Amino acid sequence: MILTGAGAGIGRAVVARYVAEGARVVAVDIDEEGLASLADECGGAVVPLAVDVRSWEGNVAAVRTAVTEFGGLDVLVVNAGITDGARPLLDIDGPDLTGAFQELFAVNVLAGLLAVRAAADALIASRGAVIMTGSYASFHASGGGALYTASKHALLGVVRQLAYELAPDVRVNGIAPGIAPTRLRGIDALGQERSDSVLEGTAAVLPLQEVPSTESYGGLYTLLANATDSGHVTGTMISADSGLSIRGLARPGGRVRTP
Ligand SMILES: NC(=O)c1ccc[n+]([C@@H]2O[C@H](COP(=O)([O-])OP(=O)(O)OC[C@H]3O[C@@H](n4cnc5c(N)ncnc54)[C@H](O)[C@@H]3O)[C@@H](O)[C@H]2O)c1
Repeated sequence: MILTGAGAGIGRAVVARYVAEGARVVAVDIDEEGLASLADECGGAVVPLAVDVRSWEGNVAAVRTAVTEFGGLDVLVVNAGITDGARPLLDIDGPDLTGAFQELFAVNVLAGLLAVRAAADALIASRGAVIMTGSYASFHASGGGALYTASKHALLGVVRQLAYELAPDVRVNGIAPGIAPTRLRGIDALGQERSDSVLEGTAAVLPLQEVPSTESYGGLYTLLANATDSGHVTGTMISADSGLSIRGLARPGGRVRTP
């Protein structure tokens, strides 16, 4: 198994869950410290690989590592991502827009294509599965700024198209988290720092009224990795948004008591 964006947040929690289920994982991230502490925590089941997912060579190295260490590759999780800090289009200076777009799309979209291209032979041989981390922003506005929302909508297209292109040998699906307590990297070209994914008041607007932990996403990734339970599922992005997309106007949820 390969999982990108393993050094922190949702990816890190999913690796821990996979390892608890008996998997061995090539953990990919650009953040060496995050990888080192993950490897300490998970022991020999995790092989850390510090590469940039935007590079073809980095993706090839991940596949080579999985094949060498584990004898093959059954699951590829494309999870590394960055945010635009929900910056509105009109708050980005025109001359900065192209660089910002290229940087964000390289991580959030291109890296998934590179990873699948690099892993295709191994995944076809194992009749494996790809899982991509989308977002609430894969379906709706205002889960980010224009660049992030466009990238996550694009990733939904990638999931659907690759599910078609790789059928019947490889299943391709996605998970679309609504919210999780992480600190996503921003766009360097805009000078953005990391930012908190959870804002003040976030829990109160969710119909389920609670910010889910990163660990709470593990079960969905396990489900889609396991052909026994989801062998008939492909081309799907599972929404895990705490009900955000069915929010009501008057109250976030029918039985939510507002002060
Ligand atoms: N946290 C949320 O509320 C939320 C909601 C919806 C979707 N998501 C998505 O979940 C995924 C994981 O994000 P997270 O919230 O856990 O954030 P995170 O920052 O904790 O984890 C993302 C990881 O990706 C790594 N990464 C970034 N750029 C990289 C690169 N070029 N090469 C290699 N690794 C790189 C980071 O170092 C980091 O460890 C992302 O795709 C994000 O868009 C998060």
